Amino acid sequence: MIKIFDTTLRDGEQAPGYSMNLSEKIEMAVQLEKLGVDIIEAGFAIASKGDFNSVSEIAKIIKNAEVASLSRALTKDIDASVEALKGAAFPRIHTFIATSDIHMQYKLKKNENEVLEITSEMVKYAKRFCQSVEFSAEDATRSRPEFLYRVLEQAIKAGATVLNIPDTVGYTSPSEIFDLIVGIKQNVRGIEKVDISIHCHNDLGMGVANTLSAIKAGATQIECTINGIGERAGNAALEEIIMNLKTRSDIYPFETKINTQEIYPTSKLLTNITGVKVQPNKAIVGDNAFAHESGIHQHGMLSNKKTYEIMTPKSIGLADKKMVLGKHSGRHAFVDRLVELGFKLPDSEIDTLFENFKMLADKKKNVTDLDIQMLAMRRNIKIPQTYKLDRFVINSGNTITTTSSMKLIYTNPYTKETEILEKVMPSYDGPIDASYKAIDQLVGKTFILEDFLISAVTGGTDAQGEVYVKLKNHEGNIYNGYGISVDIVEASILAYISAINNMVYEENR
Ligand code: KIV
Ligand code: ZN
Repeated sequence: MIKIFDTTLRDGEQAPGYSMNLSEKIEMAVQLEKLGVDIIEAGFAIASKGDFNSVSEIAKIIKNAEVASLSRALTKDIDASVEALKGAAFPRIHTFIATSDIHMQYKLKKNENEVLEITSEMVKYAKRFCQSVEFSAEDATRSRPEFLYRVLEQAIKAGATVLNIPDTVGYTSPSEIFDLIVGIKQNVRGIEKVDISIHCHNDLGMGVANTLSAIKAGATQIECTINGIGERAGNAALEEIIMNLKTRSDIYPFETKINTQEIYPTSKLLTNITGVKVQPNKAIVGDNAFAHESGIHQHGMLSNKKTYEIMTPKSIGLADKKMVLGKHSGRHAFVDRLVELGFKLPDSEIDTLFENFKMLADKKKNVTDLDIQMLAMRRNIKIPQTYKLDRFVINSGNTITTTSSMKLIYTNPYTKETEILEKVMPSYDGPIDASYKAIDQLVGKTFILEDFLISAVTGGTDAQGEVYVKLKNHEGNIYNGYGISVDIVEASILAYISAINNMVYEENR
């Protein structure tokens, strides 16, 4: 059985554009547990207060996977991880030090003996607090193999249970990584007692291929991220690795605990939270991954799906984009559809969801499976609505100055007292600009709009429009906001307000 170590919330989240707040990270972690990963790397505890909190909160919630926290090979880093992992059912300390000449000389300014010594000391130190200790030899694929073997042997002697071989800069090739893993198995004493892990970056587009080659050579743990997000060109994509193992089990005879039907919902949840979509032709989870447009392909598919389909959309949990429900649909039909889409929820959650569905169905003639998935997947991201849209009125046209009249309800986060806030703002730059300026005035702050993304969730002129914004405040922190409505101006306003609520939530934690 190959173990899946997901680092979406650590290596993935540290890449530009993917930052998530605590509530969003918790929602992702819960979904990763449902997907069946063995280990969730929840953050780098010492890196920031946000990372510490995310490790600590995720550790308390996750019961069916190990929760890992990254630490440099320094006692203060390990101490922070130990503290953050206190509530975990299955904690793992992940500590690392670089082993390549270039990293040792220019970054660490340490020689080989010093690195060997630190490895031994820090793994021993981590082992005092935690049974499960993973050691990573950063930049392993550019390290001198003979030195790497000695470092790994020290880590095993000191008590490491997992040895990770990172291709930190995405430099290796499938045959080279194969030989390196074989070399490690042949030259490192005690290697049979521990898991060998592989961690590939994708700088040359080889992350998945290198990972698959490493497990053929004997690696027993794979480190990867959802949608392949991560530093620079990203990390090896979980969905691509898993569907290779499933579709080509003839050449990769390895089992994992992943429930492949949770792949699409997990990918979608991540894009939904971060607002960063995958490219349409992305393997497995891209919009076109299962689309057969050309006539020849369609003809083949009609005769026998296997002509052009090597795996089914259902196997990754991709529901048909069927039109299923409308405003006359009852609660029963709605619940049935939710269950078919894989959401088995308690009555209390269904009540709110059904209300949201009814509101949507009032505005939109046909509610599709995708609409329902969207509603259901974001249900647990609970950010207090410090600012809530009460109503807005836009007066706009191509020959007049636009005005936005905005009314918000403000709830004091401490006293819970509410206050009505109203503002009318003109703008020469259209309804969204006027509305955002009005909100800035009401909140008493200005923001830099780092990103604004608008798209139709489904087809047709009555499609739900979804808007993602990323707002930067004066301290340089970025907050995600999301809004969905059949009215794109409303979706834009909701997204802006939700980013502000995210900021208030983070600031008051
Ligand atoms: O890429 C890398 O080397 C890492 C290590 C910290 C595991 O992410
Ligand atoms: Zn990495």
